[in-house]
Parts: sequence; C-alpha cells; structure tokens
Amino acid sequence: MPLLTVTRRLTFNAAHRVHNPALSDAENAELFGKCNYPNWHGHNYVLEVSVTGEPDPVTGYVIDLGRVKRIVESEFVEQVDHRNLNIDVPFLQGTNPTSENIILACWRAIEPALRPARLSRLRLWETENNYVEYDGR
Ligand code: NI
Repeated sequence: MPLLTVTRRLTFNAAHRVHNPALSDAENAELFGKCNYPNWHGHNYVLEVSVTGEPDPVTGYVIDLGRVKRIVESEFVEQVDHRNLNIDVPFLQGTNPTSENIILACWRAIEPALRPARLSRLRLWETENNYVEYDGR
C-alpha cells in the first residue's frame, strides 16, 4: 500500500521573550537581538501538522483532518494562543521559548493524542521567512 502524508495548518498568536538567564544581559542582547527586548513582543505563528499512513479502504483518508484539528487545538493551541509563552504556559515553564523549544513541546503534547495515527512532521513558522521542522527523532 502507498504511504501518503496529509497536513493540517493551524495558527496562533503569542508573546514571548527569548532570554537565557544563565547569560548576562549584554550576552542575551547580542545573541537574541530584538527577540530579547525586555517587555515582550508577539508573533503570528503558523503550525503545520503532518500525519503519514495508508489511506483507509473505507474512507479513502489517511486521517480525518478535522480530527487532527480538534486534537491539536485542545492539546496545544488552546494552551498557547493569545498567551505569554514565558509566563502562561505550564509545559513551557523553565524553557527559553525559541521556535525549537516550542515545537518540541508541541510534539510531546499532541503525539500521544494522535495515536495510533503516526505524526510524521511538525513545521512551525515564527515569521514569513523562518520556520523549524521536527520529525520526532
Ligand atoms: Ni520572537
């Protein structure tokens, strides 16, 4: 049977400050630039959630993308949308909210809820020009 990958796109808005408390203020400013400004800034994030599998013989679907939407909204988007990622989100406490750390937290939140479907890739756009991908490895 052929393996296919289907993708659902979701969006959320959130504030953050990228900052490593182990470094000096000057080092943080040098490393992170505008993303280190003390009083937060926002991003319009775009999250792409991909599931890989064989099409179901009855439905012809790899997975119902409406189900993907509902799971990702309840397990992740509702916890981060319109929040401050440094302060408001329990599963990001103690982590520097870079896109890399956000996408890893997203994987941990949604992968178990999607089973037995196979989450194969997440892509998180922080700006129109920058995205990070994770495939679970
Ligand atoms: Ni930023």
